[in-house]
Amino acid sequence: MNVTILGTGYVGLTTGVCLAYLGHKVTCADPVASKIAMLEEGSVPFHEPYLADLLAEARCNLKFTTEYAHTIPGAQVIFIAVGTPPGPNGSPDLKYLQAAARGIGEHIDASFTVVVNKSTVPIGSGNWVGSLVRETFEKRNGKKPRTTFAVASNPEFLREGSAIHDTLYPDRVVIGADEEQTAEVLYTLYRPILDQTFQPPTYLPRPEGVGAVPLISTDLASAELIKYAANAFLALKISYINEIGLLSERVGADISQIAKGIGLDARIGTRFLQSGIGWGGSCFGKDTAALVATAREYGLDMQIVQSARDVNRRQRERVIEKLLGELRILKGRTIGLLGLAFKPHTDDLREAPAIDIAQKLLERGARVKAHDPVAMESFKKHHPDLSDVNCCENPEEVVRDCDAVVLVTEWPQYRDLDWEPLAKTMRTPVILDGRLALDRARLSRAGFRYLGMTC
Ligand code: UGA
Repeated sequence: MNVTILGTGYVGLTTGVCLAYLGHKVTCADPVASKIAMLEEGSVPFHEPYLADLLAEARCNLKFTTEYAHTIPGAQVIFIAVGTPPGPNGSPDLKYLQAAARGIGEHIDASFTVVVNKSTVPIGSGNWVGSLVRETFEKRNGKKPRTTFAVASNPEFLREGSAIHDTLYPDRVVIGADEEQTAEVLYTLYRPILDQTFQPPTYLPRPEGVGAVPLISTDLASAELIKYAANAFLALKISYINEIGLLSERVGADISQIAKGIGLDARIGTRFLQSGIGWGGSCFGKDTAALVATAREYGLDMQIVQSARDVNRRQRERVIEKLLGELRILKGRTIGLLGLAFKPHTDDLREAPAIDIAQKLLERGARVKAHDPVAMESFKKHHPDLSDVNCCENPEEVVRDCDAVVLVTEWPQYRDLDWEPLAKTMRTPVILDGRLALDRARLSRAGFRYLGMTC
């Protein structure tokens, strides 16, 4: 099929490259010329494992452009995958979505085009996008759209850092459309994924046990709400285990064992029960805020979701409390941060706990050193306000002369550091394992005073 993707962020680019890999003819459009130039040369503007490899493999089915006029006419499916950054009151800012919908109305001409909301958009956006496309088309042509188009919602559930895996081997595909004909276009598009009939890339083999993918075919509003409800549930699962972690610390219990003990109940499930500093990233914070804001518009108070947000904020504060408890004074101390990105395998710093923690430490007069395997450039570029943070070439340099080190992001390479000689280079060998990711016994043997978020 002829597919157009508007927006080349994580969602848009991953979707475009995966669909091209499956054999569709895909054009990715983005008004940012520097991004398009990079993509044309085969490089990806952000860190995402295997995306560049898949892009190279699917290159013959991919085109890139900055011009909507070049790509909207003739498209059978147009995905809107533009950013919806958080606005001041928690509701997402929809200016890019609006511009994309108007752009489609300006140029649409095919006999039947399905416009798909792939961005995470507030409930009701399907109708809103439809009216914007129609309105713009009528203004341009002085008449109602001669051709038909329809809007669908197809939320994505990919995680940064495993975006390709999650797109090719999803737990489910959700399609929201108000007419059967619209949904059928998307079934055809996704058929190779739904039936798992494609040849997997050598570097991302099909996981054992993956068979036909469940399809949820529903109305627009339900599909839109599924996305928010899924993210909010995952966010509150993490906040729940972090709240239990607080009590577990008081009573001297072991939170890892508790997570395992409850997670093995199939009704609860083991995933997303990793306690620690809590969630960051561009999704959970934004989507829980949007859910609370939408509910407020309908006169509802989403207390559970709001509490999950509060608990998450408190976890960042607890890092400072833990360090204060140990060092008593932070002024003049040197604290090392291992990891800046909001989670491993990405260079994304949006709502990353490390940013808040660095800020709080600097405010209290501490010196801050930091390292991240891939996010340092992005940190320097996007956080000039944190230029006092000393960005180090390697973890060894971070640790040297520190009064305490905090593991903020559980990059695998930090787990396997040669901790014994490192302990000797510190002023006081204190480590706060913010992700419960290090081997406590090994660190204690290496001479560290090991602190967890819950012990
Ligand atoms: C999340 C969802 O997991 C995806 O399904 C969804 O598609 C995506 O948002 C989105 O809406 O675009 P993502 O934000 O990329 O994906 O990352 P996650 O792997 O969900 O991690 C989010 C945060 O939770 C990270 O900071 C991570 O460190 C933290 N986390 C995760 C925990 O603290 N504990 C856990 O057990 C799991």
